[in-house]
Amino acid sequence: MTDFSQIHKPVLLQECVDLVTPALHALDSVAVDCTLGLAGHTIAFLKAATNATVIGIDRDEEALEKATARIAQEGLSARFIPVHAAFDQFDEVLRAQGVSQVQAVFMDLGLSSLQIDERERGFSYAHDAPLDMRMDTSQSLTAREILATYDADRLAHIFKEYGEERFSRPIAKRIVQQRQTSPLETSSQLTALVDAVIPAAKRGGGNPAKRVFQALRIEVNGELDKLRRTLPQIGLHLAVGGRLVVESYHSLEDRTVKNFMAQGLRVDAPADMPVIPPDMQPFFKALTKGAVKADADEIAYNPRSASVRLRAVELTRPLPQRWLHTFELESQGPDDGARGAHSHRRRTHARRG
Ligand SMILES: C[S@@+](CC[C@H](N)C(=O)[O-])C[C@H]1O[C@@H](n2cnc3c(N)ncnc32)[C@H](O)[C@@H]1O
Repeated sequence: MTDFSQIHKPVLLQECVDLVTPALHALDSVAVDCTLGLAGHTIAFLKAATNATVIGIDRDEEALEKATARIAQEGLSARFIPVHAAFDQFDEVLRAQGVSQVQAVFMDLGLSSLQIDERERGFSYAHDAPLDMRMDTSQSLTAREILATYDADRLAHIFKEYGEERFSRPIAKRIVQQRQTSPLETSSQLTALVDAVIPAAKRGGGNPAKRVFQALRIEVNGELDKLRRTLPQIGLHLAVGGRLVVESYHSLEDRTVKNFMAQGLRVDAPADMPVIPPDMQPFFKALTKGAVKADADEIAYNPRSASVRLRAVELTRPLPQRWLHTFELESQGPDDGARGAHSHRRRTHARRG
């Protein structure tokens, strides 16, 4: 039998259980795991909160199948609903389940170790593979297509913004130059190109192509746009007393989560207002002090946890009217279509576990 806990080690597992499950005591409570992966966190939630049902979303069908099988092995299928969807379809997923409010929402952003280790999906600079990088293989946009079609400015922007790559412009220019004679098809071709552009004296630790690969993965999967559109949808569906718990691994993701949560943690009134009307009082309560990080022991056991930032809030009262409107507008956000000529399957696909 496969030992999934060794394929993907859930990050800050006990901390997440302690933050999520106090909201799940009531009979029929519902939690959504927006990033099911191999269900490491979900299984712990189901075991700790025996009244709760978890709706587990993942855009990766293979992860979803493996997680569903693992939950069945644990005898927990009766309280689990797997859904194949991207998490920015949050509202649609809940509607399809006939659920309007949920008691907890969990997100563990990024890739699972299963995806990183699957060489043929091209996520890793360490293995030669076609430049694919799609989490959802039914989507059409791949890393190869981005490298073949985006102009130098757009490529440089992505490398700088999502990869914090100092040599974003020369790398982008070299890509555009090279593709005129031979398009980039494989991860080793991209690694070699980055290697040739970044001067040896200016390299930090690790593989010099790491940041370019990260940036491409974020762009291929529209990760930040999806997160920006999803958080307000979650806000609209949280029950009072409901909790939102998010683990991020990239500074832009963490900033997006922090800014979203901050909107409900502050008084929504001018500083000189003598009496604050109840409607302008905060609607979130912070459950973490700043961001929780992994300690040295966890980082030694699971290096992926080194960059984690865990933040959590609880909804303390119904959303004020003004914020209902704001979240409705924000959840529409810019569409993926703006990133390139590609289409996503918008259909959600739910299966009984
Ligand atoms: C870090 S893993 C989750 C691991 C999980 N917590 C566990 O313990 O096994 C992240 C998962 O989220 C999925 N994912 C990432 N972005 C997504 C999105 N926008 N919509 C749905 N799933 C997404 C990935 O396919 C991956 O399986």
